[in-house]
Amino acid sequence: MISIVDVIKSRRSIRKYLDKPIPKETIDKLIDAAKWAPSGMNEQPWGFIVVQDKALIKELSDCSIPYINKMIEENPKFIRYKKRMKVKDFNIFYHAPCVIIILGRVDVFFYQNDCAMAAQNLMLTASSMGIGSCWVGMMSTLDKDKWFREKFQLPDNYRVVAPIALGYFENKDIPVVERRPPEILKYF
Ligand SMILES: Cc1cc2nc3c(=O)[nH]c(=O)nc-3n(C[C@H](O)[C@H](O)[C@H](O)COP(=O)(O)O)c2cc1C
Repeated sequence: MISIVDVIKSRRSIRKYLDKPIPKETIDKLIDAAKWAPSGMNEQPWGFIVVQDKALIKELSDCSIPYINKMIEENPKFIRYKKRMKVKDFNIFYHAPCVIIILGRVDVFFYQNDCAMAAQNLMLTASSMGIGSCWVGMMSTLDKDKWFREKFQLPDNYRVVAPIALGYFENKDIPVVERRPPEILKYF
């Protein structure tokens, strides 16, 4: 059995997916794993939207792009995304067959932390099952968009925290991403 540390270390953000749907039972397992995340005062302030409709995933991507471009223009930090956005028919979810958006209830103090914990549970579980994932933070720019909120019938008190692209992938598509040594500020 593969150890949790091996799963943590072998998970990579996948940006190229096979055109193969994820079965509903598998998606249910991923969401079940997500819900076992710790949360402040056990509030569990998360909600999940599962999108497998290809046309809708494309629409989500297309609608996000003007917001992302605006974000890039307004913040020089994001300038390196500019080139990526110019790719013809760029799909922010990299044509993944499934997108799970984790939203959090804003009335809960730690909702962003809680939902991020759920997202990591989901991505690690996916990785342990041979399913690739990528947290597509750029999609959060769509959070206040009228079309998006109406289309997905989002309650006013939910905000997008973790949009996650998911899908099967080929082993050769695993990028190498190194880590810096951890900055130990101080040992006492
Ligand atoms: C909060 C957050 C937002 C991210 N947003 C994006 C994104 O919009 N697009 C993307 O391709 N990757 C995104 N990523 C993935 C990171 O680029 C990736 O985790 C990082 O480069 C390390 O690579 P690894 O996940 O393969 O270890 C995001 C990751 C996190 C945690």
